[in-house]
Amino acid sequence: MTHPRLFPSLSLLALLAFPACGGEKAPEAGAPSAAPQVAAISFDPAKITPAQVALGDSIFHGKIGASSCQACHGEGGRQGTVAPILSDKEWLHGDGSLESIYNTIKSGVMAPKQFSSVMPPYGGVTMTPERTLAVAAYVYKLSNP
Ligand code: HEC
Repeated sequence: MTHPRLFPSLSLLALLAFPACGGEKAPEAGAPSAAPQVAAISFDPAKITPAQVALGDSIFHGKIGASSCQACHGEGGRQGTVAPILSDKEWLHGDGSLESIYNTIKSGVMAPKQFSSVMPPYGGVTMTPERTLAVAAYVYKLSNP
């Protein structure tokens, strides 16, 4: 006696499901979801890999991606005329930990403490967490070889 009740609800489900399948074929099958499934970011400096530092080096110097940290911080972060030197152990923002460097890159510096220009987030572009961590690792290694 309860069986007939199943049918209306099943067809309702089918109707609800249909619009989602019709129209533009969304690249659903197998494609990574829009929100990137980033492996949990580790701020443990012991986990920094040479490949990460090499990637960060290329990003820092504008060889990969649209941002050039070098433009302000100089080659190897050693310039220090329009933006702080990054290869020493003195930090205006944060404590020099990998995490604090990551966070500075992510949020930029809207209220500079010493220099007259601001630093836009990611140096003016958008960057994946993976690339941000790579460039942070590169910067971290400048003062922690
Ligand atoms: C437009 C110039 C500009 C660009 C491009 C830029 N920065 Fe900066 N950066 C600054 C300025 C200005 C400060 C803060 C100076 C101050 O507080 O007086 C700063 C601060 C920092 C700090 C903190 C330094 C400290 O002493 O605490 C880090 C780390 C840093 N930048 C990394 C980067 C990285 C990595 C990139 C590239 C992704 C980058 N910056 C791109 C101008 C720039």
